[in-house]
Amino acid sequence: MALWGGRFSQEADQQFKQFNDSLRFDYRLAEQDIVGSVAWSKALVTVGVLTSGEQQKLELALNELLDEVRTNPKAILQSDAEDIHSWVEGQLIGKVGDLGKKLHTGRSRNDQVATDLKLWCKDQIVHIQKALVELQQALVITAENNQDAVMPGYTHLQRAQPITFAHWCLAYVEMLARDESRLQDALKRLNVSPLGCGALAGTAYDIDREQLASWLGFASATNNSLDSVSDRDHVLELLSGASISMIHLSRFAEDLIFFNSGEAGFVELSDRVTSGSSLMPQKKNPDALELIRGKCGRVQGSLTGMMMTLKGLPLAYNKDMQEDKEGLFDALDTWLACLHMAALVLDGIQVKRSRCEEAAKQGYANATELADYLVAKGVPFREAHHIVGETIVVAIAKGKALEELSLFELQKFSDAISVDVYDILSLQSCLDKRLAKGGVAHEQVQQAIVQAKQRFR
Ligand code: ARG
Repeated sequence: MALWGGRFSQEADQQFKQFNDSLRFDYRLAEQDIVGSVAWSKALVTVGVLTSGEQQKLELALNELLDEVRTNPKAILQSDAEDIHSWVEGQLIGKVGDLGKKLHTGRSRNDQVATDLKLWCKDQIVHIQKALVELQQALVITAENNQDAVMPGYTHLQRAQPITFAHWCLAYVEMLARDESRLQDALKRLNVSPLGCGALAGTAYDIDREQLASWLGFASATNNSLDSVSDRDHVLELLSGASISMIHLSRFAEDLIFFNSGEAGFVELSDRVTSGSSLMPQKKNPDALELIRGKCGRVQGSLTGMMMTLKGLPLAYNKDMQEDKEGLFDALDTWLACLHMAALVLDGIQVKRSRCEEAAKQGYANATELADYLVAKGVPFREAHHIVGETIVVAIAKGKALEELSLFELQKFSDAISVDVYDILSLQSCLDKRLAKGGVAHEQVQQAIVQAKQRFR
Protein backbone atom coordinates (compact mmCIF):
# COMPACT_ATOMS: atom_id res chain seq x y z
CA MET A 1 0.00 0.00 0.00
CA ALA A 2 1.46 3.38 -0.98
CA LEU A 3 0.87 6.14 1.55
CA TRP A 4 0.26 8.86 -0.97
CA GLY A 5 -1.77 7.53 -3.94
CA GLY A 6 -4.59 10.13 -3.89
CA ARG A 7 -3.29 12.77 -6.28
CA PHE A 8 -1.76 10.29 -8.74
CA SER A 9 -3.53 8.80 -11.72
CA GLN A 10 -0.64 6.70 -13.03
CA GLU A 11 1.22 3.89 -11.31
CA ALA A 12 4.86 4.44 -10.47
CA ASP A 13 7.24 3.02 -13.03
CA GLN A 14 8.76 -0.20 -11.69
CA GLN A 15 12.22 1.10 -12.37
CA PHE A 16 11.48 4.28 -10.42
CA LYS A 17 9.95 2.30 -7.60
CA GLN A 18 13.07 0.21 -7.24
CA PHE A 19 15.22 3.31 -7.37
CA ASN A 20 13.12 5.17 -4.83
CA ASP A 21 12.20 2.50 -2.30
CA SER A 22 14.29 2.19 0.83
CA LEU A 23 12.75 -0.85 2.54
CA ARG A 24 15.66 -2.99 1.32
CA PHE A 25 17.89 -1.21 3.88
CA ASP A 26 15.65 0.79 6.23
CA TYR A 27 13.92 -2.40 7.41
CA ARG A 28 16.59 -2.21 10.07
CA LEU A 29 14.66 0.67 11.64
CA ALA A 30 11.57 -1.48 12.23
CA GLU A 31 11.86 -1.67 16.02
CA GLN A 32 12.51 2.04 16.33
CA ASP A 33 9.63 2.88 14.00
CA ILE A 34 7.26 0.79 16.08
CA VAL A 35 8.45 2.21 19.40
CA GLY A 36 8.15 5.72 17.97
CA SER A 37 4.65 4.91 16.76
CA VAL A 38 3.54 3.74 20.19
CA ALA A 39 4.74 7.01 21.71
CA TRP A 40 3.03 8.99 18.97
CA SER A 41 -0.26 7.16 19.59
CA LYS A 42 -0.04 8.21 23.25
CA ALA A 43 0.54 11.81 22.21
CA LEU A 44 -2.54 11.64 19.98
CA VAL A 45 -4.66 10.78 23.03
CA THR A 46 -3.52 13.96 24.78
CA VAL A 47 -4.83 16.07 21.89
CA GLY A 48 -8.09 14.17 21.52
CA VAL A 49 -7.37 12.49 18.18
CA LEU A 50 -7.53 9.01 19.72
CA THR A 51 -9.54 7.78 22.70
CA SER A 52 -7.52 5.84 25.23
CA GLY A 53 -9.41 2.71 24.18
CA GLU A 54 -8.31 3.22 20.60
CA GLN A 55 -4.76 3.93 21.70
CA GLN A 56 -4.65 0.72 23.73
CA LYS A 57 -5.76 -1.27 20.70
CA LEU A 58 -3.06 0.35 18.58
CA GLU A 59 -0.42 -0.19 21.22
CA LEU A 60 -1.34 -3.84 21.58
CA ALA A 61 -1.14 -4.40 17.83
CA LEU A 62 2.13 -2.48 17.58
CA ASN A 63 3.66 -4.54 20.38
CA GLU A 64 2.54 -7.71 18.65
CA LEU A 65 4.25 -6.44 15.52
CA LEU A 66 7.35 -5.67 17.56
CA ASP A 67 7.52 -9.29 18.68
CA GLU A 68 7.14 -10.48 15.11
CA VAL A 69 9.86 -8.14 13.91
CA ARG A 70 12.22 -9.22 16.67
CA THR A 71 11.69 -12.88 15.86
CA ASN A 72 12.17 -12.50 12.15
CA PRO A 73 13.35 -9.06 11.01
CA LYS A 74 14.20 -10.22 7.50
CA ALA A 75 10.59 -11.26 6.83
CA ILE A 76 9.95 -7.55 6.23
CA LEU A 77 11.96 -7.82 3.03
CA GLN A 78 9.22 -9.95 1.44
CA SER A 79 6.99 -6.90 1.24
CA ASP A 80 7.02 -4.40 -1.61
CA ALA A 81 6.26 -1.46 0.72
CA GLU A 82 8.12 1.73 -0.13
CA ASP A 83 9.90 2.07 3.19
CA ILE A 84 9.77 0.90 6.78
CA HIS A 85 7.28 3.62 7.74
CA SER A 86 4.75 2.49 5.14
CA TRP A 87 5.42 -1.11 6.05
CA VAL A 88 4.66 -0.59 9.75
CA GLU A 89 1.54 1.42 8.96
CA GLY A 90 0.38 -1.21 6.46
CA GLN A 91 0.90 -4.02 8.98
CA LEU A 92 -0.94 -2.07 11.64
CA ILE A 93 -3.91 -1.50 9.36
CA GLY A 94 -3.81 -5.21 8.55
CA LYS A 95 -4.14 -5.97 12.26
CA VAL A 96 -6.64 -3.36 13.46
CA GLY A 97 -8.34 -2.17 10.27
CA ASP A 98 -9.37 1.46 9.75
CA LEU A 99 -8.29 2.52 13.23
CA GLY A 100 -4.70 2.06 12.05
CA LYS A 101 -5.23 4.82 9.50
CA LYS A 102 -5.54 7.38 12.29
CA LEU A 103 -2.00 6.90 13.57
CA HIS A 104 -0.29 9.15 11.05
CA THR A 105 -2.36 12.19 12.08
CA GLY A 106 -0.07 15.20 12.66
CA ARG A 107 3.05 13.20 11.88
CA SER A 108 5.23 13.16 8.77
CA ARG A 109 7.71 10.60 7.59
CA ASN A 110 10.22 13.42 7.86
CA ASP A 111 10.10 13.75 11.65
CA GLN A 112 9.46 10.02 11.84
CA VAL A 113 12.60 8.96 9.96
CA ALA A 114 14.71 11.50 11.85
CA THR A 115 13.42 10.05 15.13
CA ASP A 116 13.84 6.42 14.07
CA LEU A 117 17.39 6.97 12.97
CA LYS A 118 18.35 8.76 16.17
CA LEU A 119 16.85 5.95 18.22
CA TRP A 120 18.78 3.45 16.13
CA CYS A 121 22.02 5.40 16.62
CA LYS A 122 21.46 5.40 20.38
CA ASP A 123 21.08 1.61 20.37
CA GLN A 124 24.20 1.15 18.28
CA ILE A 125 26.26 3.42 20.51
CA VAL A 126 25.59 1.03 23.39
CA HIS A 127 26.88 -1.95 21.38
CA ILE A 128 29.93 -0.13 20.10
CA GLN A 129 30.80 1.25 23.51
CA LYS A 130 30.71 -2.25 24.92
CA ALA A 131 33.01 -3.51 22.16
CA LEU A 132 35.39 -0.59 22.73
CA VAL A 133 35.62 -1.47 26.41
CA GLU A 134 36.09 -5.17 25.68
CA LEU A 135 38.94 -4.46 23.31
CA GLN A 136 40.58 -2.20 25.86
CA GLN A 137 40.23 -4.98 28.42
CA ALA A 138 41.84 -7.45 26.04
CA LEU A 139 44.72 -5.00 25.51
CA VAL A 140 45.17 -4.51 29.25
CA ILE A 141 45.28 -8.27 29.83
CA THR A 142 47.87 -8.61 27.05
CA ALA A 143 49.81 -5.75 28.62
CA GLU A 144 49.73 -7.39 32.04
CA ASN A 145 51.06 -10.62 30.61
CA ASN A 146 53.87 -8.87 28.78
CA GLN A 147 55.18 -6.25 31.16
CA ASP A 148 58.69 -7.60 30.94
CA ALA A 149 58.69 -8.31 27.20
CA VAL A 150 61.26 -5.81 25.97
CA MET A 151 61.12 -4.93 22.30
CA PRO A 152 62.35 -2.17 20.05
CA GLY A 153 60.22 0.94 19.76
CA TYR A 154 60.30 2.62 16.37
CA THR A 155 60.30 6.03 14.79
CA HIS A 156 60.46 6.22 10.98
CA LEU A 157 60.24 2.43 11.23
CA GLN A 158 63.82 2.48 12.50
CA ARG A 159 64.66 1.02 15.86
CA ALA A 160 64.68 4.01 18.17
CA GLN A 161 64.48 3.14 21.88
CA PRO A 162 63.52 0.01 23.77
CA ILE A 163 59.95 -0.29 25.01
CA THR A 164 57.88 -3.14 26.38
CA PHE A 165 55.09 -4.97 24.62
CA ALA A 166 52.87 -3.83 27.49
CA HIS A 167 53.62 -0.19 26.76
CA TRP A 168 52.67 -0.74 23.12
CA CYS A 169 49.35 -2.31 24.17
CA LEU A 170 48.58 0.59 26.47
CA ALA A 171 49.10 3.12 23.69
CA TYR A 172 46.09 1.57 21.94
CA VAL A 173 44.09 1.61 25.16
CA GLU A 174 44.52 5.39 25.16
CA MET A 175 43.30 5.68 21.57
CA LEU A 176 40.26 3.51 22.20
CA ALA A 177 39.43 5.44 25.36
CA ARG A 178 39.33 8.61 23.28
CA ASP A 179 37.12 6.85 20.72
CA GLU A 180 34.79 5.96 23.54
CA SER A 181 34.65 9.52 24.80
CA ARG A 182 33.93 10.76 21.28
CA LEU A 183 30.89 8.48 21.22
CA GLN A 184 29.69 9.72 24.59
CA ASP A 185 30.08 13.24 23.35
CA ALA A 186 28.14 12.57 20.14
CA LEU A 187 25.39 11.00 22.23
CA LYS A 188 24.89 14.23 24.19
CA ARG A 189 24.03 16.13 21.05
CA LEU A 190 21.98 13.46 19.34
CA ASN A 191 19.86 12.67 22.37
CA VAL A 192 17.20 15.19 21.38
CA SER A 193 13.86 14.15 19.89
CA PRO A 194 12.67 15.49 16.52
CA LEU A 195 9.25 13.81 16.85
CA GLY A 196 6.37 16.27 16.62
CA CYS A 197 8.10 18.55 14.11
CA GLY A 198 5.86 17.32 11.30
CA ALA A 199 7.00 17.67 7.73
CA LEU A 200 9.03 20.83 8.37
CA ALA A 201 7.00 23.56 10.06
CA GLY A 202 5.93 21.74 13.21
CA THR A 203 2.80 19.72 13.97
CA ALA A 204 -0.57 21.45 14.01
CA TYR A 205 -1.63 19.47 17.10
CA ASP A 206 -0.83 20.90 20.49
CA ILE A 207 1.42 18.09 21.57
CA ASP A 208 3.71 18.25 24.59
CA ARG A 209 6.89 17.40 22.71
CA GLU A 210 9.01 17.29 25.86
CA GLN A 211 6.78 14.62 27.33
CA LEU A 212 6.85 12.75 24.03
CA ALA A 213 10.65 12.97 24.00
CA SER A 214 10.88 11.57 27.51
CA TRP A 215 8.58 8.66 26.62
CA LEU A 216 11.10 7.74 23.95
CA GLY A 217 14.06 8.06 26.30
CA PHE A 218 15.42 11.27 24.80
CA ALA A 219 16.85 13.94 27.10
CA SER A 220 14.67 16.64 25.54
CA ALA A 221 12.86 17.76 22.38
CA THR A 222 14.55 19.70 19.56
CA ASN A 223 14.11 23.47 19.30
CA ASN A 224 13.45 24.18 15.64
CA SER A 225 11.28 22.10 13.35
CA LEU A 226 13.13 22.99 10.13
CA ASP A 227 16.43 21.99 11.66
CA SER A 228 14.97 18.87 13.25
CA VAL A 229 13.89 17.22 10.02
CA SER A 230 16.99 18.17 8.08
CA ASP A 231 19.68 17.67 10.71
CA ARG A 232 21.96 14.70 10.12
CA ASP A 233 24.86 15.97 12.22
CA HIS A 234 24.62 12.87 14.37
CA VAL A 235 25.20 10.71 11.29
CA LEU A 236 28.28 12.77 10.47
CA GLU A 237 29.51 12.66 14.05
CA LEU A 238 29.14 8.91 14.32
CA LEU A 239 30.80 8.42 10.95
CA SER A 240 33.65 10.71 12.06
CA GLY A 241 34.00 8.79 15.30
CA ALA A 242 33.97 5.53 13.36
CA SER A 243 36.54 6.84 10.89
CA ILE A 244 38.94 7.98 13.59
CA SER A 245 38.58 4.74 15.50
CA MET A 246 39.06 2.71 12.32
CA ILE A 247 42.27 4.65 11.70
CA HIS A 248 43.42 3.56 15.16
CA LEU A 249 42.47 -0.03 14.40
CA SER A 250 44.27 0.07 11.07
CA ARG A 251 47.46 1.20 12.81
CA PHE A 252 47.03 -1.52 15.43
CA ALA A 253 46.63 -4.01 12.58
CA GLU A 254 49.64 -2.71 10.69
CA ASP A 255 51.88 -2.82 13.77
CA LEU A 256 50.91 -6.42 14.41
CA ILE A 257 51.25 -7.43 10.76
CA PHE A 258 54.80 -6.13 10.94
CA PHE A 259 55.50 -7.72 14.35
CA ASN A 260 54.23 -11.02 12.92
CA SER A 261 56.34 -10.83 9.77
CA GLY A 262 59.28 -13.15 9.21
CA GLU A 263 61.50 -10.07 9.32
CA ALA A 264 60.44 -9.02 12.82
CA GLY A 265 59.13 -12.27 14.33
CA PHE A 266 58.05 -10.55 17.55
CA VAL A 267 54.68 -12.25 17.78
CA GLU A 268 52.96 -15.28 16.45
CA LEU A 269 49.28 -15.02 15.60
CA SER A 270 46.92 -17.82 16.44
CA ASP A 271 45.79 -20.27 13.76
CA ARG A 272 42.26 -19.14 14.60
CA VAL A 273 42.77 -15.76 12.94
CA THR A 274 45.15 -16.56 10.10
CA SER A 275 44.77 -18.40 6.86
CA GLY A 276 46.90 -20.42 4.51
CA SER A 277 47.93 -19.90 0.93
CA SER A 278 46.43 -22.12 -1.74
CA LEU A 279 49.84 -22.39 -3.38
CA MET A 280 52.58 -21.85 -0.81
CA PRO A 281 52.25 -24.39 2.00
CA GLN A 282 54.60 -22.54 4.37
CA LYS A 283 52.44 -19.42 4.56
CA LYS A 284 50.29 -18.29 7.45
CA ASN A 285 48.71 -15.01 6.47
CA PRO A 286 47.46 -12.37 8.92
CA ASP A 287 44.14 -12.00 7.08
CA ALA A 288 42.13 -10.83 10.08
CA LEU A 289 44.51 -7.93 10.59
CA GLU A 290 44.78 -7.12 6.90
CA LEU A 291 41.00 -6.94 6.67
CA ILE A 292 40.80 -4.63 9.67
CA ARG A 293 43.37 -2.41 7.97
CA GLY A 294 41.55 -2.67 4.65
CA LYS A 295 38.07 -2.00 5.97
CA CYS A 296 39.21 1.36 7.24
CA GLY A 297 38.79 2.60 3.66
CA ARG A 298 35.08 1.97 3.30
CA VAL A 299 34.33 3.69 6.61
CA GLN A 300 36.19 6.84 5.52
CA GLY A 301 34.26 6.52 2.25
CA SER A 302 30.92 6.56 4.06
CA LEU A 303 31.92 9.69 5.97
CA THR A 304 33.01 11.50 2.82
CA GLY A 305 29.91 10.31 0.98
CA MET A 306 27.58 11.65 3.64
CA MET A 307 29.36 14.98 3.87
CA MET A 308 29.02 15.42 0.13
CA THR A 309 25.36 14.41 0.22
CA LEU A 310 24.56 17.06 2.82
CA LYS A 311 26.67 19.82 1.32
CA GLY A 312 24.53 22.55 -0.16
CA LEU A 313 21.20 20.79 0.56
CA PRO A 314 18.44 23.35 0.92
CA LEU A 315 16.25 23.23 4.02
CA ALA A 316 14.43 21.20 4.99
CA TYR A 317 13.99 17.50 4.10
CA ASN A 318 15.11 16.34 0.66
CA LYS A 319 15.09 12.79 -0.62
CA ASP A 320 18.87 13.00 -0.89
CA MET A 321 18.82 12.38 2.84
CA GLN A 322 17.63 8.83 2.33
CA GLU A 323 21.25 8.22 1.31
CA ASP A 324 22.23 8.62 4.99
CA LYS A 325 21.39 5.08 5.98
CA GLU A 326 23.34 2.57 3.92
CA GLY A 327 26.69 4.22 4.60
CA LEU A 328 25.95 4.63 8.30
CA PHE A 329 24.72 1.06 8.72
CA ASP A 330 27.71 -0.32 6.87
CA ALA A 331 30.22 1.86 8.73
CA LEU A 332 28.91 1.00 12.18
CA ASP A 333 28.59 -2.71 11.34
CA THR A 334 32.14 -2.67 10.03
CA TRP A 335 33.48 -0.80 13.05
CA LEU A 336 31.81 -3.22 15.45
CA ALA A 337 33.06 -6.27 13.55
CA CYS A 338 36.62 -4.89 13.52
CA LEU A 339 36.55 -4.20 17.27
CA HIS A 340 35.44 -7.78 17.90
CA MET A 341 38.03 -9.17 15.50
CA ALA A 342 40.86 -7.14 17.06
CA ALA A 343 39.96 -8.61 20.47
CA LEU A 344 39.96 -12.11 19.00
CA VAL A 345 43.42 -11.55 17.51
CA LEU A 346 44.77 -10.53 20.92
CA ASP A 347 43.15 -13.52 22.56
CA GLY A 348 45.55 -16.00 20.96
CA ILE A 349 48.62 -13.86 20.40
CA GLN A 350 51.99 -15.18 21.46
CA VAL A 351 54.79 -12.72 22.16
CA LYS A 352 58.20 -14.17 21.36
CA ARG A 353 60.19 -12.57 24.12
CA SER A 354 63.70 -13.66 23.31
CA ARG A 355 63.32 -12.60 19.70
CA CYS A 356 61.92 -9.22 20.85
CA GLU A 357 64.76 -8.69 23.29
CA GLU A 358 67.38 -9.65 20.75
CA ALA A 359 65.96 -7.08 18.33
CA ALA A 360 65.83 -4.45 21.06
CA LYS A 361 69.53 -4.98 21.67
CA GLN A 362 70.35 -4.43 18.04
CA GLY A 363 69.93 -1.18 16.20
CA TYR A 364 71.64 1.01 18.79
CA ALA A 365 68.43 1.58 20.70
CA ASN A 366 70.55 2.68 23.66
CA ALA A 367 72.28 5.52 21.81
CA THR A 368 70.18 8.15 23.58
CA GLU A 369 71.33 6.65 26.86
CA LEU A 370 74.95 7.20 25.99
CA ALA A 371 74.20 10.80 25.04
CA ASP A 372 72.34 11.35 28.34
CA TYR A 373 75.27 9.76 30.16
CA LEU A 374 77.67 12.26 28.60
CA VAL A 375 75.29 15.10 29.50
CA ALA A 376 75.36 13.92 33.11
CA LYS A 377 79.16 14.13 32.93
CA GLY A 378 78.95 17.75 31.84
CA VAL A 379 79.05 17.44 28.04
CA PRO A 380 76.47 19.74 26.34
CA PHE A 381 73.71 17.65 24.70
CA ARG A 382 74.38 18.78 21.12
CA GLU A 383 78.03 17.79 21.48
CA ALA A 384 77.10 14.51 23.19
CA HIS A 385 74.73 13.71 20.28
CA HIS A 386 77.61 14.21 17.86
CA ILE A 387 80.04 12.07 19.87
CA VAL A 388 77.53 9.20 20.04
CA GLY A 389 76.93 9.48 16.29
CA GLU A 390 80.66 9.05 15.66
CA THR A 391 80.84 6.16 18.12
CA ILE A 392 77.99 4.41 16.30
CA VAL A 393 79.71 4.71 12.93
CA VAL A 394 82.69 2.85 14.36
CA ALA A 395 80.49 0.31 16.17
CA ILE A 396 78.65 -0.45 12.92
CA ALA A 397 81.96 -0.90 11.12
CA LYS A 398 83.07 -3.35 13.80
CA GLY A 399 79.71 -5.11 13.83
CA LYS A 400 79.35 -4.49 17.56
CA ALA A 401 76.66 -3.10 19.85
CA LEU A 402 77.63 -0.02 21.90
CA GLU A 403 77.95 -2.07 25.07
CA GLU A 404 80.23 -4.49 23.25
CA LEU A 405 82.86 -1.80 22.66
CA SER A 406 85.68 -1.86 25.19
CA LEU A 407 86.22 1.04 27.57
CA PHE A 408 89.38 1.83 25.66
CA GLU A 409 87.44 1.98 22.39
CA LEU A 410 84.74 4.17 23.92
CA GLN A 411 87.15 6.58 25.52
CA LYS A 412 88.57 7.42 22.12
CA PHE A 413 85.40 9.43 21.55
CA SER A 414 85.21 11.14 24.91
CA ASP A 415 87.32 11.04 28.03
CA ALA A 416 84.17 11.71 30.03
CA ILE A 417 83.35 8.00 29.62
CA SER A 418 84.28 5.64 32.44
CA VAL A 419 83.43 2.09 33.42
CA ASP A 420 80.01 3.00 34.88
CA VAL A 421 78.84 3.52 31.28
CA TYR A 422 78.02 -0.19 30.89
CA ASP A 423 75.25 -0.06 33.49
CA ILE A 424 73.41 2.66 31.65
CA LEU A 425 73.77 0.91 28.30
CA SER A 426 71.77 -2.10 29.50
CA LEU A 427 68.22 -2.49 28.20
CA GLN A 428 66.85 -2.53 31.70
CA SER A 429 68.45 0.77 32.52
CA CYS A 430 67.02 2.31 29.33
CA LEU A 431 63.54 1.31 30.49
CA ASP A 432 63.98 2.14 34.18
CA LYS A 433 64.99 5.71 33.46
CA ARG A 434 61.72 6.54 31.66
CA LEU A 435 60.04 7.14 34.98
CA ALA A 436 58.21 10.39 34.26
CA LYS A 437 54.46 10.18 33.69
CA GLY A 438 53.57 8.23 30.56
CA GLY A 439 57.02 6.65 30.24
CA VAL A 440 57.90 3.00 29.72
CA ALA A 441 59.34 2.39 33.21
CA HIS A 442 57.75 -0.53 35.02
CA GLU A 443 56.07 1.68 37.67
CA GLN A 444 54.42 3.83 35.03
CA VAL A 445 53.19 0.87 33.01
CA GLN A 446 51.89 -0.74 36.17
CA GLN A 447 50.04 2.43 37.09
CA ALA A 448 48.54 2.74 33.60
CA ILE A 449 47.23 -0.82 33.91
CA VAL A 450 45.68 -0.12 37.30
CA GLN A 451 44.07 3.10 36.08
CA ALA A 452 42.67 1.47 32.97
CA LYS A 453 41.15 -1.30 35.08
CA GLN A 454 39.55 1.26 37.38
CA ARG A 455 37.87 2.85 34.39
CA PHE A 456 36.31 -0.46 33.35
CA ARG A 457 34.65 -0.99 36.72
N1 ARG B 1 12.61 6.72 3.15
C1 ARG B 1 12.71 8.08 3.52
C2 ARG B 1 14.13 8.36 4.06
O1 ARG B 1 14.78 7.45 4.37
C3 ARG B 1 11.70 8.42 4.57
C4 ARG B 1 11.28 9.83 4.54
C5 ARG B 1 10.45 10.09 3.35
N2 ARG B 1 9.94 11.40 3.36
C6 ARG B 1 9.43 11.96 2.27
N3 ARG B 1 9.02 13.17 2.37
N4 ARG B 1 9.39 11.33 1.13
O2 ARG B 1 14.54 9.47 4.15
